[in-house]
Amino acid sequence: MNTRHLIDLDQLSIDEIKYIISLSQEIRSKPHEYIDVCHGKIMATLFYEPSTRTQMSFQTAMLRLGGQVIGFNDPNNSSVTKGESLKDTIRIVSEYGDIIILRNRYEGAAKAASLYSKCPVINAGDGAHLHPTQTLTDIVTMSNEIGRLKNLSIGVCGDLKNGRTVHSLIKCLSHYEGNRFILVSSSQLCVPKYLTDILDENNCEYVFSDDLSASIGDMDVLYMTRIQKERFESEEEYNRQKGRFILDSEKLKLAKKEMKILHPLPRVDEISDEVDEDPRAMYFKQAEYGLYARMALIINILEHESKRIDPIEKGFTDRRCHNPNCITSDECYLPNLFIKREDGLFCKYCDARDE
Ligand code: NCD
Repeated sequence: MNTRHLIDLDQLSIDEIKYIISLSQEIRSKPHEYIDVCHGKIMATLFYEPSTRTQMSFQTAMLRLGGQVIGFNDPNNSSVTKGESLKDTIRIVSEYGDIIILRNRYEGAAKAASLYSKCPVINAGDGAHLHPTQTLTDIVTMSNEIGRLKNLSIGVCGDLKNGRTVHSLIKCLSHYEGNRFILVSSSQLCVPKYLTDILDENNCEYVFSDDLSASIGDMDVLYMTRIQKERFESEEEYNRQKGRFILDSEKLKLAKKEMKILHPLPRVDEISDEVDEDPRAMYFKQAEYGLYARMALIINILEHESKRIDPIEKGFTDRRCHNPNCITSDECYLPNLFIKREDGLFCKYCDARDE
């Protein structure tokens, strides 16, 4: 693989993604052939935000490959509470471990960590921004259960504004030909503009909807998500949004017989329990595929790795990203990194447009 860190799935070509998918299938069918592949390697899981599946599936993946695991799942038990910067934590941990899995509440945190790490950093969720390994999980599931990643009508429903899994998924699937997106949400929780820009750039068709029953019949895949309570400014605002889109047996009667239902989990109330018994429900199997997707990714990332720090990128010195949720708003030593595109200047950490 050409990339050292995995911050965004865009770093991988379609062929590299295809390779990871097929390796995950191979590992799933012959797990005993991989039990020693990471012998002697150490994974550090640094989770500054809560997690069940992502953290445990990464840890299980490494243990099943014969490696070992260190880390924290509550920064309150680490020197972070003493005021240690992300940069210092990463410098130290990348000395101990061979690969770092990082989840943080700030957008762009994984990119920031990669600047100071001696070993590869994998983004396990950076605020409301991206979650590339959940997307690998999702596309491994789709490849296995649908048999293709192109020419699909993909419904995405729930909190499209704050759901990082949604952002990574839309970005990734927009690169496959013939995909069409049905974006089901309230107007307050619709996808950020930079994502519809990406859909436009890739000539993907998309429609907005605020009615799941009216649009479900067109979908080959329905990706349900929870309303991201922790990203709201107040409880009242969250209460105004919760419970607006619920998938139940009644709505499922309007869907295609072969439609697949995905959800990154955890679910709150957006899928009724009765749906679990429907053969179209894939979300528990999806979590299982996630284990093999992560095993394949770890093998690929560690393959040719030796410890080193790349020279720190230099940026514009007089500009700061305006996004209050960007990692640069919390860690002031970070260089101001922007990328110029046709339609403006964008923060390299969090993708926000410079205003
Ligand atoms: C997701 C996450 O953390 O973004 N969960 C996961 O990693 N499987 C989805 C969510 O929290 O809603």
